[in-house]
Amino acid sequence: MRFKEKIVVVTGAASGFGEAIAKSFGAEGASVVVADVNEVGGKRVTSQLEQAGARALFVRTDVSRAEDVRAMIEAAVSTFGGLDVLVNNAGFCHRAMPLWELPEEDYERVFATNTKGVYLGAKYGIPALRERGGGVIINTASIGAVAPRPGVTAYNATKGAVITMTRGLAVELAPFKIRVNAVNPVAAATNFMKGALGMDSLPDDVRKTLAAGIPLGRLTEPSDVAAAVLYLASEDASFLTGVCLDIDGGRSIS
Ligand SMILES: NC(=O)c1ccc[n+]([C@@H]2O[C@H](COP(=O)([O-])OP(=O)(O)OC[C@H]3O[C@@H](n4cnc5c(N)ncnc54)[C@H](O)[C@@H]3O)[C@@H](O)[C@H]2O)c1
Repeated sequence: MRFKEKIVVVTGAASGFGEAIAKSFGAEGASVVVADVNEVGGKRVTSQLEQAGARALFVRTDVSRAEDVRAMIEAAVSTFGGLDVLVNNAGFCHRAMPLWELPEEDYERVFATNTKGVYLGAKYGIPALRERGGGVIINTASIGAVAPRPGVTAYNATKGAVITMTRGLAVELAPFKIRVNAVNPVAAATNFMKGALGMDSLPDDVRKTLAAGIPLGRLTEPSDVAAAVLYLASEDASFLTGVCLDIDGGRSIS
């Protein structure tokens, strides 16, 4: 129970990595705000958290909208009493294609979700973390920011910005005892990947192709990301800030 009496907000918690992160925090004693644009998935995850004995609240949040992010943080404070950990995990990927063919609205949406979402999380979350005398921010970046591959250049650029914000904020917030770290996952078979590839499901041959470039020979599981996020948020990582942890089975080495 590493997070007993801690209050955690997880964005993009209606599915994929965010769902696993929210449920892992709940299993370790935290009260969890499940924030997402997806109401059906967000309410499902919230009720599963409650059935497992955790305190949980769904807040419909578009992380690119200031009023939504402000309301998300206010809900954590008014319902649970504060904020200890903010996980900026919500993300979107445009369909994979050459950058010069990408529609302008997709470029704007991917930056608004992945990059502005982290800025807004900082803008409204940091005052609440400071009220508690310190805390942790974890951002979901991507191995694509470190070792880009063709087709998702705009998306990878957003995650490069997330890494830079993580490291910059780590220095800015150290005097306030707020640690800021990130995770860099490699490909996973989540809804995100289906959207990027324009597929309703990921057939075995596609999974095998994706896994072939990963030395450990498999895709990321949501539980891999959740385990890393909980470690970075825990007291075991109390001297780690500005760390962007590769969760990639060795993909970025070669
Ligand atoms: N799946 C991968 O291969 C992969 C690899 C590296 C990094 N990531 C990153 O991991 C994070 C989680 O993605 P995932 O793989 O779990 O995919 P996912 O699609 O299962 O989860 C993403 C969640 O974010 C939510 N979301 C999207 N736009 C939002 C917005 N504007 N406001 C609030 N919520 C919004 C979606 O509704 C969804 O529930 C993302 O930041 C993504 O960029 C994914």
